[in-house]
Amino acid sequence: MTQRVLLIIGGGIAAYKSLDLIRRLRERGATVRVVLTRAAQEFVTPLAAGALSNERVFTDLFDLDDEREIGHIRLARDTDLIILAPATADLLAKMATGQANDLATAVLLATDKPVLAAPAMNPRMWSHPATRRNVHQLEADGIAFVGPNAGEMAERGEAGVGRMSEATEIAEAAAQLLAGLAPSKTGPLAGRHVLVTSGPTHEPIDPVRYIANRSSGKQGHAIAAAAASAGARVTLVSGPVTLNDPPGVTVIKVQTAAEMLSTVEAALPADIAIFAAAVADWRVAAAAGQKMKKTSDSAAPTLTLAVNPDILKSIAKRTPRRPALVIGFAAETDAVIPHAQKKRKDKAADWIVANDVSPATGTFGGDWNTVHLVTADGVTSWPPQSKDDVARRLIEQAAAWLAANQTEV
Ligand code: C5P
Repeated sequence: MTQRVLLIIGGGIAAYKSLDLIRRLRERGATVRVVLTRAAQEFVTPLAAGALSNERVFTDLFDLDDEREIGHIRLARDTDLIILAPATADLLAKMATGQANDLATAVLLATDKPVLAAPAMNPRMWSHPATRRNVHQLEADGIAFVGPNAGEMAERGEAGVGRMSEATEIAEAAAQLLAGLAPSKTGPLAGRHVLVTSGPTHEPIDPVRYIANRSSGKQGHAIAAAAASAGARVTLVSGPVTLNDPPGVTVIKVQTAAEMLSTVEAALPADIAIFAAAVADWRVAAAAGQKMKKTSDSAAPTLTLAVNPDILKSIAKRTPRRPALVIGFAAETDAVIPHAQKKRKDKAADWIVANDVSPATGTFGGDWNTVHLVTADGVTSWPPQSKDDVARRLIEQAAAWLAANQTEV
């Protein structure tokens, strides 16, 4: 790498790794100029960055000397690549909305060069809908991302996706970008394909009426988002919901169970398949082609129902192209664990996430979930937590299982 890199260091505990990144980039032959945000200077000093880069360090938009000598426009253009590391939630939000109220953000807005962002933040901040929106926007704007990775956070007892990538990973992604390649995704599920079903299905009675259920799709969509945050390529097959598409996920919308099954089959192969959809058990055997009319004697029509295909079961029982890890859900109102254990065996699922959906729990349509993970090894009961947290924990465990079993599709 004989190119010029402008490294913008944001204010986060991961900033110390950016000092190592300066060395890694220089080892690869790059010249490195550093911009420190005001917050970054709480974590690393301009002196350290200057000593490691062997270049002048830039900190202030209104430093007249800098403006005269070089200026933020030249700083933004006299480089081959800009790396933002750590890319804090705040910097990503500012970039996504085009703010430019300090040197770092002004450079990021003024540049016409590729930008590589290495996010670092608390897992809840990373999975917050606002950050998801911002990352989605920035990806659409052509910003490349490396990480974040899963693991322990600086805060005690916190773990999840949000750790900044290691300096060597960021340097490698930078080298790929400079070579004109899109950096490959990183994260515990990088290179993996995760297939998720979500939402209810609508089974037509006639062109205007249908049979449905109260599933909101919140849990399934949260799982798809968590898998994407963990670096996976994600296909989300969703019934009708009022939720936004999770960023970075390929969403295929379907109406009926039959459509959901054929769409899921077409999306194979996958490493992990998670069936969170509340698929209607029955459909109307012969849906009317025209709107059914009320008769003059007010007699109610009789609907003959037919059994829908069981999508989870048919995917879990197939031999060619069975995903390595097949996970189903079991929504129960009584004897939750025994029913889930039976369902795991009957449907040939590897894991069942069992949840109590009796009305008092408010699970259906709500944001919280109390679940038990049922596997061949036993049952683990998770404390009540948000559907986002359930999703993150499930994806972390699935990623760990896959890593331990080393299966590639
Ligand atoms: O049998 P039950 O509907 O309780 O099973 C729930 C699990 O099976 C969920 O994972 C659900 O997505 C899946 N399922 C399916 N196709 C069906 C019915 C349920 O994939 N027709």
